[in-house]
Amino acid sequence: MTKAVCPGSFDPVTNGHLDIFNRAAELFDDLTVLVTGNPSKKTSGLFSIEERVELIREVVDPSIKVDWWGGLLVDYTTAHGVSTLVKGLRSSLDYEYELPMAQINRRLSGVDTVFLLTDEKFGYISSSLCKEVASYGGDVSGLLPDPVAKAVVERYKK
Ligand code: PNS
Repeated sequence: MTKAVCPGSFDPVTNGHLDIFNRAAELFDDLTVLVTGNPSKKTSGLFSIEERVELIREVVDPSIKVDWWGGLLVDYTTAHGVSTLVKGLRSSLDYEYELPMAQINRRLSGVDTVFLLTDEKFGYISSSLCKEVASYGGDVSGLLPDPVAKAVVERYKK
């Protein structure tokens, strides 16, 4: 059985991420979405690590596991027998950012990274753009899963 992990900060998870998770789940028998970050550190994120995990659990297929990790990614993959990381690629900018991460992860532990090309519908969506739009009261429906869009709007009301 090939174990795979989709790692990311997911602050918050978008419809683009969700599409990658669903497509990765078709390719791998055992898929975990892994939120990276340390819950004991107060990060500058919109949502805490626990909140991000809860939001993802609310919107992913129950066959997909959701976990978090505060350390080096390869320590998680080695400890859990994960052979493959899965990430979405929207553009050459993503490629430039992802390439050295994939290479260092492989050098450190042998874990491979598989890239899925983002569906054209989601190519322009990012967590940070969605937060920017929502922070000014703009409409993020269709960009984020409904429960996530609701949580983002609520958070900016505070
Ligand atoms: O989608 P993101 O937020 O750009 O994901 C980046 C992420 C979380 C995969 C990366 O920052 C990461 O792997 N963090 C865990 C710490 C780590 O292992 N860093 C060195 C490997 S590049």
